Amino acid sequence: MKKQKEFFLKASHFGENFTWGVSTAAYQIEGGHNSDGKGQSIWDKFTENPKKIYNGENANTTCDFYNKYKEDILLMKSMNINNYRFSISWARVLPNGIGTVNEKGLQFYNDVINFCLAQGITPWITLYHWDLPQALEEKGGWTNRTIIQWFSEFTTLCANSFGDRVKHWMVLNEPMVFTGAGYFLGVHAPGKKGLKNFLPAAHHAVLCQAKGGRLLRQLIPDAQIGSTFSCSQIDPYRQNKRDQKTTIKVDALLNRLFIEPVLGLGYPTDDATVLKKLQPYILPTDMLDCKFDFDFIGIQNYTREKVKYSLLVPYIRAKIIKASTRNVKTTLMDWEVYPPSIYNMIKKYSDYPQIKKIIITENGAAFKDKVVKSGIADTERLNFLQQYLNQVFKAKKEGLNVHGYFVWTFTDNFEWAEGYFPRFGLVHIDFNTLKRTIKESGKWFSEFFSTKN
Ligand code: NOJ
Repeated sequence: MKKQKEFFLKASHFGENFTWGVSTAAYQIEGGHNSDGKGQSIWDKFTENPKKIYNGENANTTCDFYNKYKEDILLMKSMNINNYRFSISWARVLPNGIGTVNEKGLQFYNDVINFCLAQGITPWITLYHWDLPQALEEKGGWTNRTIIQWFSEFTTLCANSFGDRVKHWMVLNEPMVFTGAGYFLGVHAPGKKGLKNFLPAAHHAVLCQAKGGRLLRQLIPDAQIGSTFSCSQIDPYRQNKRDQKTTIKVDALLNRLFIEPVLGLGYPTDDATVLKKLQPYILPTDMLDCKFDFDFIGIQNYTREKVKYSLLVPYIRAKIIKASTRNVKTTLMDWEVYPPSIYNMIKKYSDYPQIKKIIITENGAAFKDKVVKSGIADTERLNFLQQYLNQVFKAKKEGLNVHGYFVWTFTDNFEWAEGYFPRFGLVHIDFNTLKRTIKESGKWFSEFFSTKN
């Protein structure tokens, strides 16, 4: 195995109160897609069409966390991981999205939570990580304003069922991605396209985000409540006025659209005029109802984007230039490896006085793993994570508002439309045997986490 460069940073350098953990999502790891009364989600449905997913794969079994959660949580413990972020499959607990509760689904999450706590691992719940019940999609899903009521029912059920033991909550995972990829580009479930779907879906997600926050606060007064957002540094492709203006617009769409309304700043319509088209969906008290004072904001950063003005792209007039055409180091997702992006994002959000606290709720990379005699060699992933950690440390040292870091992700899993090809895990999974093997990066993190105090 290739020798690693010396890395001097220790977890303890980030201070005692800095939170370290790993993140996962229900659909990507659980499997058990129809076990014990679970209903169908939009991802179960979407993956029925093999053309939508790399290699025609699905997550019907994936890592089988549904049956192997004890093994995985014990593995976490052995790796000195003491915060675990996971999501609740809405259709597992409410098979039709609303109405009849699936007690066995609740039992599963109670078992996961109790097992975590017994191992000294703090559970962090994300309510919604993209797997809407199909029954609700059939009523319009995120485009239907009634989702505020449906989402409230789901939130209330989760808070009442788990809130006695779970004190760290996130409402949504990356609303820009699930509305953008799922309701604008159609490349994620439910495969809807165009502004007519995206705009109402986005506005309803913004409303649910705040509503979810309020309900959690009311039902679990001692909880720490956040929501998580994708973000990337955006730079102009060429140094000309048009690309610079385009950069501001894309930044407003990708990095501000979902955060600013919750902070009471409204939509960034001045910098992204296409957002004026949201107006018909906004009812008189909505901009007040979008506000919520989250205890923390989760930011998830992987890369940076370069953008240019393009007349060919309707409404947006902007084009993202693929990293593979830019002669830069990339991951298997064709995302540029650009560590300063995470620092710049921490800096950007630290500048909002309304944000109480920032936690990096995801950061990680997909690279090819090499199976070697001594285990699984993943030098590139380890280098990536160390370089990004250095940038988080730089931010911390400068007194920026960052208070935690979660690696994406614990085990290899189902990477949405990209199937099983990009592996992001600290732990390798052989998807034929479901055998778990800690990678070099995982071993390194076990050591790193053990230096917390
Ligand atoms: C963000 C998403 O939350 C997660 O589900 C996904 O697997 C990672 N990024 C990597 O793409």
